[in-house]
Amino acid sequence: MRYRATILALLAPCAFAATTGEALFHQHCAPCHGANGEGGRGPKLARLKLPRAPDDATLGSLIEQGIPGTEMPVTRMTDAERAEVIAYVRSLGRAASAQVAQAGDPKKGELLFWGKGGCGQCHTVGPRGGRTGPDLTDIGVKRGPANLRQSVLDPEAETPDNFAQYRKVIYMPDNYLRVRVVTADGKQITGARVDEDTFTIQIRDDGSHIYSFRKDQLKELHEDWGKSPMPSFRNKFAASELDDLVAYLSSLTGAQ
Ligand code: HEC
Ligand code: HEC
Repeated sequence: MRYRATILALLAPCAFAATTGEALFHQHCAPCHGANGEGGRGPKLARLKLPRAPDDATLGSLIEQGIPGTEMPVTRMTDAERAEVIAYVRSLGRAASAQVAQAGDPKKGELLFWGKGGCGQCHTVGPRGGRTGPDLTDIGVKRGPANLRQSVLDPEAETPDNFAQYRKVIYMPDNYLRVRVVTADGKQITGARVDEDTFTIQIRDDGSHIYSFRKDQLKELHEDWGKSPMPSFRNKFAASELDDLVAYLSSLTGAQ
């Protein structure tokens, strides 16, 4: 107990002024869910209804068991601490519901997604779209608005490689790895890795052709960790269009 108190004092100098729930939230949850639960790598928690934690009991077991197969980890704490965090998360939800207005129009964002943005060439929503990038059907329950905005402006800011510190504990798909090969006759091919074993590698190029190579027959093989196949849209959209696009992505909760 004393040990934990020392750690808390070191990590969060202002924790003494805050409630225990708030301090625990800042320590364990804020790195992914944002300092005020506004969302980030994880979804926004500052809302009245959490789709996967409709009541305090399910919220408690989410904290205790994480969400297997996702980046939401197991968090070890005592029952009393967990109760404090639950109460704090609920208080964030009540505070947020007081200020409803959201920037951006999801309907306009949807048009940009399939139209000007060309996002559907690489991403699926429901039954529609391409397969180069991840399925975005429920991206609104996976990521917060700021993180979604960053994904569009700066896709390389957070490719799976940057998540290496969690790799050992959390399953991360790394099939968006960017690969560049030069064949024996000097042809260069760039694309996403589809599969790889000790002797062979399969690559899908940007025109969706699949290639399979024996590695010992390649002149060069580069696996570009941290390089995203997704282009940056930094100069493509006006500020208001970006708000619309983020509003649309946030509205995607899997229930199409
Ligand atoms: C390493 C990052 C990370 C940490 C730390 C983390 N979470 Fe999460 N959390 C996520 C991600 C990512 C998801 C979405 C999982 C998915 O579906 O892909 C999530 C989902 C959730 C959900 C479901 C939300 C919904 O829409 O129903 C709740 C609730 C939640 N987290 C609460 C917490 C709490 C409370 C803590 C701290 C005790 C915490 N998380 C710590 C990343 C994290
Ligand atoms: C050329 C293909 C391509 C296009 C076009 C494209 N993306 Fe992506 N996108 C990807 C790939 C591949 C990834 C996964 C690797 C990464 O995160 O950079 C990705 C990742 C994302 C993510 C992060 C997903 C997550 O799990 O966090 C979001 C959000 C996203 N894209 C939205 C968009 C939007 C919105 C557009 C249109 C404005 C768009 N993308 C256009 C290929 C594409």
